[in-house]
Amino acid sequence: MLPEHAVVRPLLRSDVDKAVELETLAFTNPAERASKAKIQYRLSVCSELSLGVFLRNHEAENNKSDSENPTFLKINSCDIYAAAYPSEIDREEKLIAHIIATQSDKDTITNESMEIPDLVDGRPVKNDSRGHINGGTSIAIHSLAVHPDYQSAHIGSSLLNDYTKRMSMHSVVDKVILIAHPEVAPFYVKNGFADCGTSSCDHAGETWVDLVYRIDDSDDSD
Ligand SMILES: CC(C)(COP(=O)(O)OP(=O)(O)OC[C@H]1O[C@@H](n2cnc3c(N)ncnc32)[C@H](O)[C@@H]1OP(=O)(O)O)[C@@H](O)C(=O)NCCC(=O)NCCS
Repeated sequence: MLPEHAVVRPLLRSDVDKAVELETLAFTNPAERASKAKIQYRLSVCSELSLGVFLRNHEAENNKSDSENPTFLKINSCDIYAAAYPSEIDREEKLIAHIIATQSDKDTITNESMEIPDLVDGRPVKNDSRGHINGGTSIAIHSLAVHPDYQSAHIGSSLLNDYTKRMSMHSVVDKVILIAHPEVAPFYVKNGFADCGTSSCDHAGETWVDLVYRIDDSDDSD
């Protein structure tokens, strides 16, 4: 279901600008996009809850001059990639889809969970219930975005299914929650989420539906 040379991995803080660009391309209503500050915050405190589909441009990497290219080892007549230059490789990766999330101690998405807490030295001020909650039993997806050039090719479904499988291995979490426009809710229902009715969230001043994916005990058995 994924294009050639696609790599699926959690986002890093160094991916912030790519994630901001993808939000801009995917969400036509600017009020629905996660701001750079929110993406930076989420990738700083819980990047392991994010997941991105990147396309690697091997052609561009291979066309670099010898001095730019990583070292290769000759083993049994095969060229074995020996030394990676992460910054170079990073530059040749195009982000085409992402999920960005935090943990929450609530059963459905709340306005508070979508905010950034007051931070001192990068840590939330005590008793600030906004943003990521360590130990929360819900994973709150704040963004699922697919690059417009790659929509309707089942990349969103593949990423979401991969994500819920990965999160099923999380020890304290028992569900994945999100909000969606009523017309997009069927997409999530097709992918195993339950439609839980109108959300109390008024994100971007719009009406949303609560969707919940329950991780049952059988999910983490394989
Ligand atoms: C919504 C989105 C994530 C779906 O990802 P995608 O890769 O385009 O969707 P898929 O190809 O995996 O779709 C799978 C199925 O869901 C349906 N579907 C996809 N997007 C839909 C939408 N917006 N509304 C209703 N159904 C939708 C498709 O028709 C398809 O059905 P099929 O299997 O019968 O052909 C993507 O289109 C996107 O990023 N849109 C803009 C941002 C956005 O709205 N994000 C969701 C916020 S709640």
